[in-house]
Amino acid sequence: MVAGMIALAGAVAANLPGLRPELNGFTAWTKVSSPKDTGGPHAGLSKVVFANKIASDAWKKKGALPLGSIVVKTAGAIANPTFIAVMLKQKSGWYYEEYFPKGGRYAVGAGGPDGQGLCSNCHGDAANDSLFTRP
Ligand code: HEC
Repeated sequence: MVAGMIALAGAVAANLPGLRPELNGFTAWTKVSSPKDTGGPHAGLSKVVFANKIASDAWKKKGALPLGSIVVKTAGAIANPTFIAVMLKQKSGWYYEEYFPKGGRYAVGAGGPDGQGLCSNCHGDAANDSLFTRP
């Protein structure tokens, strides 16, 4: 059992190919929440939300997360996610992208340069800086 857990921890820390470089090692970031199923588009998958240091330091405060914040949601197995949803706080506000497995790598399949509206239309309804799982 202990050996199995160590092997899992090793797998979890591995970088997933194809993700933007800012996401390297994100599975070692602070785990800020485990969203409950809302019956929405991601129902039926176990989900974990990770935040980089800038985001996690401000996560529990009220108000907008600082520039440079990155929030990542994995769905399915963390070492081999079914998809990876990302929000990056830029000067213009949140930038959204969602990666899916494609040919042994991950590639943006939703959000991205032409797909911000898909994500922001829904996330705009979340009260605390467009984040649903924030306290
Ligand atoms: C239909 C509404 C809806 C759409 C569209 C949507 N989301 Fe979400 N998102 C949610 C809800 C609800 C949660 C929290 C519960 C969950 O994960 O099921 C969430 C959680 C997240 C989180 C974790 C942080 C948080 O808000 O708590 C990230 C990151 C995220 N979504 C990114 C995206 C991206 C990127 C897109 C576009 C590709 C997107 N979402 C589209 C509803 C939506």
